[in-house]
Amino acid sequence: MADLQSVCDVVIFGGHGDLAFRKLMPALYHLTDTGYLDSKSRIITVTRVEMTGEEHRKLVKEKLKNFLKENAFDEGKFKVFEKQLDVVIIEFNDNSSYEGLFKLLSQKPDRERINYLSTASDFFSTICSSLHKWNLITPKSRVVLEKPIGRDLESARLINKGILQYFNESQIYRIDHYLGKDTVQNIMALRFSNRFFMPLWDANNIDHVQITVAENVGVEGRWDYYDEYGAMRDMIQNHLMQLLCLVAMEAPCSLDADSVRDEKVKVLRSLRKMTPRDIVQKTVRAQYTQGVSDGETVPNYTDGVPNSTTETFAALRVDIDNWRWNGVPFYLRSGKRMHKRNSEIVIQFKAVPHSIFANQGRCISENKLIISLQPKESIELQLMNKVPGLSEEMRLQQVELELNTPMNMKHKPDAYERLLLDVIRSNPTLFMRLDEVEAAWKWADVILEAWEENVVSMKKYRSGTDGPTASIQLIARDGRSWHDE
Ligand code: BG6
Repeated sequence: MADLQSVCDVVIFGGHGDLAFRKLMPALYHLTDTGYLDSKSRIITVTRVEMTGEEHRKLVKEKLKNFLKENAFDEGKFKVFEKQLDVVIIEFNDNSSYEGLFKLLSQKPDRERINYLSTASDFFSTICSSLHKWNLITPKSRVVLEKPIGRDLESARLINKGILQYFNESQIYRIDHYLGKDTVQNIMALRFSNRFFMPLWDANNIDHVQITVAENVGVEGRWDYYDEYGAMRDMIQNHLMQLLCLVAMEAPCSLDADSVRDEKVKVLRSLRKMTPRDIVQKTVRAQYTQGVSDGETVPNYTDGVPNSTTETFAALRVDIDNWRWNGVPFYLRSGKRMHKRNSEIVIQFKAVPHSIFANQGRCISENKLIISLQPKESIELQLMNKVPGLSEEMRLQQVELELNTPMNMKHKPDAYERLLLDVIRSNPTLFMRLDEVEAAWKWADVILEAWEENVVSMKKYRSGTDGPTASIQLIARDGRSWHDE
């Protein structure tokens, strides 16, 4: 049984939204089941839809049955879990509607309070202001913010400023669920607990890095949201940037939150600002068109949002101006409705300085370290090896050394489970600090503004493919190719 944590009240704003049902409730169910969340804790859903407590519990039950993986739904466990559930009806902009929440929370004035804002970021400061007016923010309160925070640096600053009127920076948890993925955390373990990577992890030895987050799904009904944001704001500015930071950062002096975040922010500040010419040469934006995805014919993106100018795919070459990474490009790409779901980081090492096998017509493939995040979670090192046997010539073959982590867990925790537990434990290491968010927007804004001015034309790609040819050309121009080509 886990070490029991303090009892807390978790309030989910936007509690009947997709994220709440798909990720947050299942995570809280597991945390209760495993004892990490004390069962005296309350989970209070805030919604605009009028409903009774009974109707709410019924709805949560249905959704859990749907979204819990590994057949984890259990009647007996739900009977315990449902005792924790409460619902209050609030219209975010109507301050008087917070009375129900006030009454509920005031029953336990000394409780730790976690306010999870799973709403559009436009509502963040309004909600915080009402919590403040109703005197619901205590030194033991925390607030969790879903990404993306704003659409650019200016709006992000405004939103953060609004929240900082009521919460201290140390009470704010800006979530990027990629940081809660086990394999993502493993990047730090791999880099900083294995000596042999240390001398190799730089521009002398690494040729380039590729970061791909490809999804085969489309927008999944989130048209309003997605069309406002697109691949750059939805994925690159946050998830892929965080992955890049973990690969590129220096070793922090300790694992405490600020030491780790100090190193990440240094990377973000070292990103080379793109000139208009760079943006033309080093960025690609594209929209999917009709095609076949998962065996089904799917329509154009613009059939969902006619005349949309939002990208569903983005690819970029990113340069980091510091000593370690001088001259090492990082290629990033992310898109929806692609050939397959595949998220991976590929570290491609340089070729050996001189090949003694070359004059025998043997070619040596460069070593690659492949960190797969999903669907498979694995770490693989590609090496060259002799083909066993008595042949006169030395024959070589590429072999894969796969690092298998034995998992003795019946239930594999989801990223949200890990992150919610960190909020409960008041550990902000895996959350983004204000300066990180701002530095990422500052870099992305330059590209987004140029795209808005059509400096780079919108390309098209067929659903079910690997993206537009412009993405292949982007990397081919440097004499390289995407890992899976
Ligand atoms: C979310 C994006 O942050 O991440 C979604 O808003 C995307 O558009 C999702 O589908 C991908 O997450 P994962 O964990 O499935 O790779």
